[in-house]
Amino acid sequence: MVDNNPSSDSPEETPNPDPDENAPPENDPVLDALAERLQETLLQGMRHKFWETQPVKQFKDIGDISLPEGPIEPPIPLSEVKQEPYNLPNLYEWITCDIDSEETRAEVCNLLTHNYIEDDKNMFRFDYSKEFLHWALRPPGYCKSWHIGVRVKSSKKLVAFIAGVPARIRVRDNVVAMAEINFLCVHKKLRSKRLAPVMIKEVTRRVHLENIWQAAYTAGVVLPTPISSCLYWHRSLNPKKLIDVGFCRLGARMTMSRMTKLYKLPDSTGTPGFRQMELHDVPAVTQLLRNYLNQFEVAPDFDENDVKHWLLPTENVVDSYVVESPESHKITDFCSFYSLPSSILGNQKYSILKAAYSFYNVATKTPLLQLMNDVLIVANRKDYDVFNALDVMQNETFIKELKFGPGDGKLYYLYNYRLRDTLKPMELGLVLL
Ligand SMILES: CC(C)(COP(=O)(O)OP(=O)(O)OC[C@H]1O[C@@H](n2cnc3c(N)ncnc32)[C@H](O)[C@@H]1OP(=O)(O)O)[C@@H](O)C(=O)NCCC(=O)NCCS
Repeated sequence: MVDNNPSSDSPEETPNPDPDENAPPENDPVLDALAERLQETLLQGMRHKFWETQPVKQFKDIGDISLPEGPIEPPIPLSEVKQEPYNLPNLYEWITCDIDSEETRAEVCNLLTHNYIEDDKNMFRFDYSKEFLHWALRPPGYCKSWHIGVRVKSSKKLVAFIAGVPARIRVRDNVVAMAEINFLCVHKKLRSKRLAPVMIKEVTRRVHLENIWQAAYTAGVVLPTPISSCLYWHRSLNPKKLIDVGFCRLGARMTMSRMTKLYKLPDSTGTPGFRQMELHDVPAVTQLLRNYLNQFEVAPDFDENDVKHWLLPTENVVDSYVVESPESHKITDFCSFYSLPSSILGNQKYSILKAAYSFYNVATKTPLLQLMNDVLIVANRKDYDVFNALDVMQNETFIKELKFGPGDGKLYYLYNYRLRDTLKPMELGLVLL
């Protein structure tokens, strides 16, 4: 990426560099609102001062079929990539966060716990555990230098974070080496000071230094230009708690006992041969996944090392199940979810919402609906309060039937890679954390 508009995205100096908590709310609109806002953006010609300078598909390019698919800017020689970090305001300094260090991981967790994504009513905030960060930030081939923090020079307090991890992502017929960018977070007291663009440019620079020129990321806000607009769906497992904490409401003509009955699940799974995935399943699961993901326009290109890292069960982080045919002992089906609790803000009785997120699921013999019902049973048994799934891949085929309700939007983006058309969520085979 070339920094061709330094004035538009220079961070502002701040008189109070060492912030406490406190919060302007962050928007996280549902799909309709997103579509409406995209329309408004187009109509009002609203500027994205930073994103307009970046090699991403611009709003004005939507529908322009003369533009080719693929990289927007070619790679440059590594010697021409800026060698020094971008400038920060004087009071701050860059650090590379050592995720192997307990202490640093705790600092990152603390920043995220108090400042990361909230729902649009500020009732819940993602609560990443140290184990989750260890998993999310250290996949095969990870780069330490892509785990980037900003500290206050004097107090050493961590006030911002952004991270990238390497991934091979197939876009139609091309497998592209990319960075998956995640965990962009600026302390609440330092918002709206154009720090985010500097962080994005710095992670981009460090990604370029590894000879990688594309990235994938998601956001709850509309930026130029989503490759796909997905929606979260939620399946209540513990409806009483979800109502108590305001996650959902009792509908008209619904009582708590009817609601409890509606969402009740059997105690044990129904598919013969359904069991937790083990290390020796890695080759079979990799094969299943590779065959399955082939049908989607954008999907990860997983090898056995990736599967071992991303999908082998790790307590309270990721859980995976296979169906082993009782007759042939072949692995015929696979399903998985990761564990991402949220803090419940301002509730006397409960402080944590235990949420499972559907990850990758492949059904070749068991009907997908039945497989997912079994996953719900397992998640329920493990005391999750809610099971969430995006409408990606073939998830639409079970979300209504298994009583999921709609939630917020999640928009997918590619950096320095243009797709001619927007993808339907069902064309997307990628789940970003
Ligand atoms: C997202 C966050 C870092 C943005 O920081 P900020 O102080 O609000 O914004 P800044 O003034 O630093 O920068 C504004 C620019 O960043 C862009 N931006 C805002 N959120 C973004 C996101 N999630 N991804 C990429 N760019 C984003 C804005 O569009 C704007 O650029 P533009 O002028 O081209 O439109 C901050 O709001 C935050 O920490 N939010 C909570 C965590 C979160 O939502 N993280 C994003 C996860 S996807």
